Amino acid sequence: MKLLVTGGAGFIGSHVVRLLVNKYPNYEIVNLDKLTYAGNLENLKDIEKNPNYKFIQGDITDKQFISDLFVAETFDGVLHLAAESHVDRSISGPEAFVITNVIGTLNLLNAAVQQWKGDYTGKLFYHISTDEVFGSLGQEGKFDENTSYDPRSPYSSSKASSDHLVRAYHHTYGLPIVITNCSNNYGSHQFPEKLIPLMIHNIKTNRPLPVYGKGENIRDWLWVEDHARAIDVVFHQGKNGETYCIGGNNEWKNIDLVHLLCEIMDDRLGREKGTSAGLITFVKDRAGHDLRYAIDATKIKFELGWEPTQPFRDLLEKTVDWYLANEEWLEHITSGAYRNYYIDQYQNR
Ligand code: NAD
Ligand code: DAU
Repeated sequence: MKLLVTGGAGFIGSHVVRLLVNKYPNYEIVNLDKLTYAGNLENLKDIEKNPNYKFIQGDITDKQFISDLFVAETFDGVLHLAAESHVDRSISGPEAFVITNVIGTLNLLNAAVQQWKGDYTGKLFYHISTDEVFGSLGQEGKFDENTSYDPRSPYSSSKASSDHLVRAYHHTYGLPIVITNCSNNYGSHQFPEKLIPLMIHNIKTNRPLPVYGKGENIRDWLWVEDHARAIDVVFHQGKNGETYCIGGNNEWKNIDLVHLLCEIMDDRLGREKGTSAGLITFVKDRAGHDLRYAIDATKIKFELGWEPTQPFRDLLEKTVDWYLANEEWLEHITSGAYRNYYIDQYQNR
């Protein structure tokens, strides 16, 4: 089995690649990533020498490159995670989101249809998507597989478009597909523009903790390794044409989560209780800020036997400890030195 994982050098993608490479030594795992600012080969240092792993640097928006890749390599499955993923960046620069998330997905769909030529036995195109396509919830209710699409940011609109394209290729060309829509992930190797690693970094360096609006917005947090495990389960057991919602059953108001992080960090850094919370600063709200996301993950639990595993506080502490123990990782990201790492590792191969 040869699998293409796109965006495998990013946060979630690197956890998915690691899981697949370690769990399936007989599979060939090909990681295709452009290495944008969010892609980092240091995320995969521990498995980069495994014989069943290969990295290819490339851009999913490059139609010819993608088409040539699918001629050169015969894939049995595609796990598509490559995307522009940060809502704030989509507000300041929407175009890149449409080009990467919509056109990039279209290129992959076309290449898969061309390569598999209607013989779809044992083939699967898996699109990893977000709960943000469903819009924003009030204080009650949860998103599930029957929720109507109502994306409200350029990011979520581009992800909704790509979901629609994937379903259209299933209905029109018979392409075997699955889609998952997942809630907010946290864990190791997340780029420090997202809430949790940003707050950890700022607490550590005694910088203000910028909480948007009043911090009343609610997110449903899932440990990234649980997400990777869900992706493995859906890829192997999911039904052709189906959608599965994945969530942590773990809703937190942003302000409460930031307080919890401050508490954990005070303990870890030996600070007096309450010190880090003094850094909290309420700042201008995100434009069009969705109030609440929450997932009803009943379908994946009962049909495929997946559910999130461990208690949130333990996993959050584990996450904090990872960032504190991996200062170099953070420094390389912020200094851009990981690009030099890539050149050193791959230029003469
Ligand atoms: P990320 O931003 O950390 O990583 C994205 C990866 O895609 C990077 O390695 C980047 O280099 C690569 N990439 C971007 N543009 C590319 C292009 N044109 N060609 C090839 N590679 C390209 O993102 P993430 O948080 O790991 O999210 C991964 C996927 O999961 C995305 O599709 C996202 O929409 C989805 N998702 C994320 C979350 C979350 O909480 N982070 C939750 C649900 C779904
Ligand atoms: O729900 C899934 C989505 O979760 C994924 O599809 C996205 O790729 C991922 O980035 C994430 O989107 P969010 O916008 O929810 O995540 P972010 O970490 O940017 O923000 C989480 C919440 O924290 C949100 O309500 C905005 C708020 N926030 C964020 C930042 C970066 C702040 O209050 N201050 C900040 O500095």
